[in-house]
Amino acid sequence: MEMSNRPRRFRRTPLIRELVAQTKISTDQLIQPYFVTDGEGVKVEIGGMPGIYRESVDSLVKSIEEDYKLGLNKIMLFGVTERKDAMAAGAADDKNPVVLAIRKLKDRFGEDLFVSADVCLCAYTDTGHCGVTVDGEIDNDTSLPILARMALVLAQSGCDCVGPSDMMDGRVGAIRETLEAHDLTGTIIMAYTAKYASSYYGPFREAAASAPGKGDRKGYQMDFRNRTEALRELMLDEEEGADIVMVKPALAYLDIISDFQRNTELPIAAYNVSGEYAAVKLMARSGQADEKSLVLENLTAIRRAGASIILTYHLRDILKNEWRLS
Ligand code: PBG
Ligand code: ZN
Repeated sequence: MEMSNRPRRFRRTPLIRELVAQTKISTDQLIQPYFVTDGEGVKVEIGGMPGIYRESVDSLVKSIEEDYKLGLNKIMLFGVTERKDAMAAGAADDKNPVVLAIRKLKDRFGEDLFVSADVCLCAYTDTGHCGVTVDGEIDNDTSLPILARMALVLAQSGCDCVGPSDMMDGRVGAIRETLEAHDLTGTIIMAYTAKYASSYYGPFREAAASAPGKGDRKGYQMDFRNRTEALRELMLDEEEGADIVMVKPALAYLDIISDFQRNTELPIAAYNVSGEYAAVKLMARSGQADEKSLVLENLTAIRRAGASIILTYHLRDILKNEWRLS
């Protein structure tokens, strides 16, 4: 049979496949999340997330020293604390475990470790919501100065990058203005621009002890039926001064990542979230799939859709096992 086009020619040998591969992943653009909590000598594995821990500052610094030896040098910190109240006082407190961790890590590593930190109130409010409650409602505008103060305290402690994940309107602008007013001109804002209300955050909420006591997050996180609204959020975050724009979760939202790629010059990040990680671990542990192959396929899909930066809990495993990612 005569055919002028045979796409299978490119699939014939490993070297030919390598030659024509379009998408490659580098660990240079992956960020590992960590959970830091109060106390000393605490290190508790998180249910549903094997290999991921909630740890006190002393333990966290040791873990990061070990991970650094593997080549891991970009991290995102999340705070976990028992200290919760109506106005999220713990969020912008300089005894906050995240602030203490950043100071230690920056003393120890300086610019050899890229440190980013989450900016959100849900770990610090008694309601577990990402903004503060006034008269029974999540109050957007009352939350803004608290978020901005939290970002300021993190930046002052030496954080390279702050990541607002609260989804209040105007928060990127409020944070940028506060940072500028304090001459913190070098702090990167990685905005959770299109953060959807997702069931894939399940394991994280246990990790961060941040599940809302009542209700859900649909009043501020995006509705997964909506696509163009993500572009509206993108435009606003760009105007307000974001440096990096993020889509979250990643795998069920590849269309949104791809929309971002066609509509922004900014670097695009995607958050490969806790539930996506847990699903991989479940399949791998029950022998239904090879873990490395799953991780490679998932991260490549996220990269192919248009994200250059990926926040992923898999990074430590990738480095530890020396998985080749291309
Ligand atoms: C808090 C926050 C969440 C995640 C990152 N920041 C959870 C949520 O919104 O409930 C999710 C991360 C993950 O699932 O890995 N605002
Ligand atoms: Zn939150």
